[in-house]
Amino acid sequence: MRLLTFPLFFAIFQLLTCTASPLNKRASLTSPPSGAVVVRQSGTKSGEFSTLQAAIDSLDDSSSKTIFIYPGTYNEQISITRSGPLTVMGSTTDTLKQSANQVTIQHSLSAAVAGSDDASGTFRVHKDNLNLYNVNIKNTFGKGSQAIALSSYGNQLGYYAVGLYGYQDTLLTNQGTQFFSACYIEGAVDFIFGQHARLFIHRSTIASVDAGAITANGPSSASDNSLFVIDSSSVIQSSAATTSLTGKVFLGRPWSQWARVAFTNTMLSSVINSAGWEQWSSSAPNTANVEFVEVNNSGPGASGTRASFSKKSTSTAGFTASDVLGSSWTSWVDQSYA
Ligand SMILES: *[C@@H]1O[C@H](CO)[C@@H](O)[C@H](O)[C@H]1NC(C)=O
Repeated sequence: MRLLTFPLFFAIFQLLTCTASPLNKRASLTSPPSGAVVVRQSGTKSGEFSTLQAAIDSLDDSSSKTIFIYPGTYNEQISITRSGPLTVMGSTTDTLKQSANQVTIQHSLSAAVAGSDDASGTFRVHKDNLNLYNVNIKNTFGKGSQAIALSSYGNQLGYYAVGLYGYQDTLLTNQGTQFFSACYIEGAVDFIFGQHARLFIHRSTIASVDAGAITANGPSSASDNSLFVIDSSSVIQSSAATTSLTGKVFLGRPWSQWARVAFTNTMLSSVINSAGWEQWSSSAPNTANVEFVEVNNSGPGASGTRASFSKKSTSTAGFTASDVLGSSWTSWVDQSYA
């Protein structure tokens, strides 16, 4: 009995602490929260919508709304412009794990055909105050052109356990303040890119499917305060890669000479080239005023003779969530994912 008592006490203690821990707040979400507008692909009931875009289009412009999506692969291109706060949740058995996502939104469109990077996006956000949970977004165009999965413009945009899949230019974070956590972001070339955004990617997996640079930040002037930080994440080779990428991936290349990117507390696998960073191109290196910083990274890709225009620092000062998003970040970022 004495032997049983202690484990039992421990189990109860763990249960209590787990319940209290924000990381275990929501385990499963397989039916709509009360008041949510419902998207259900098949067996759509009265008052529900069979596509996400139809559900979005049904909303008024200004009130706070929630949309819940039942499992399925939705072949759609989404555009959200309404001004009111919006939360979109995909059905999942584990809200904290992208790998448990049951909803995929996919579309195939290249920027060459669409006319711009943004216009090619499978999921286009042009608004402030959006929370997106547990949805996979794919641009299935593949190699040969920019083809954006998520095109994200706005302040206080939170992406939680979202999966983004593309090849060239998967994620466009172009303006505003944007937080990503527990996400999976896959691509080959410049697949986290944009000009003016303050971007904080946290506890996420960055997966390369082919050789290339992960980030391409391109502030338009010295006074453009864009900054990309990838924190407490992992950089790996995607299981979808068809050849070994050892040493073939760079943390970033500068889309403009003011590019500002930091990788902090992140595991860098052997895909990362020993130089770490590369110039934009031999004819336009764009390295004059870049700020490329690494702080406390680990793994085989964290060491090597780095490019002269990059630096390593021992402090994350200037690169914390509060630094990137502003001290009020805790008021709009879901702290279950912080
Ligand atoms: C360094 O990164 C590791 C994660 O790889 C983290 O556990 C540790 O707390 C970090 N150290 C500092 C000083 O931030």
